[in-house]
Amino acid sequence: MRIDKYLSNIGLASRSETKRILKDHRVQVNDVVITEAKHQINPYVDVVKVDGKTMKYKDFYYFVINKPQGYVSANTDERYPTVLSFFEDLNIKGLTHVGRLDKDTTGVLLITNNGKLAHFLISPKSNVKKVYSLTVDKDLDASLVEAFKQGVKLENNEVCRPAKLIIKNAREATLELTEGKYHQVKRMMRAFHYEVIALHRDEFANLTIQNCQPGEYYELKEEQIKMLEQYLR
Ligand code: URA
Repeated sequence: MRIDKYLSNIGLASRSETKRILKDHRVQVNDVVITEAKHQINPYVDVVKVDGKTMKYKDFYYFVINKPQGYVSANTDERYPTVLSFFEDLNIKGLTHVGRLDKDTTGVLLITNNGKLAHFLISPKSNVKKVYSLTVDKDLDASLVEAFKQGVKLENNEVCRPAKLIIKNAREATLELTEGKYHQVKRMMRAFHYEVIALHRDEFANLTIQNCQPGEYYELKEEQIKMLEQYLR
């Protein structure tokens, strides 16, 4: 692999910026200063240092963003800003969102360039647990808990898997799902004539927003990635 491609792949800088970093004698491969962008390296064998610091090569990147309101879960959009816009400066190829949150929904959204894992995590067979906090437009009826346990029938007669609803107070609840149908939470509540007026995802596959403010993200640790990889089996 070319050294400039490697440096942009690891998110250090854009392809053109890496040329400057190379020209400035800041890059060493196996302790030899390299200035040519086309210099070939093996990312798994060669030791690459930038400003004396050893770089770690990764094929895949995993982030959790606390999605803010007003952003769409899309790679590009003509009308609204996208969740991927927060990651543009990293220059990581193939980064995408795992599943979707509505424009007005906030909370945990996984972002990765591991397409295979993303595909598995959003497949209905994966049974990934998702936990939402929701606020509705009128007081919640206690009978909803049992109805959600039985499996809610949506407007198109599709029946949802059993879901766990915990009523927190008159208009707020948490909802645990193991599937991810289109607008599922809103449609489940609508089946009982409630409108969801605020929706936040607290968990996706046991991942949380940790301390991230809306628009902030963190990179997953090794053990969190291993936990996600269990879904590949
Ligand atoms: N269900 C919804 O209705 N909206 C979301 O954003 C996520 C789940």
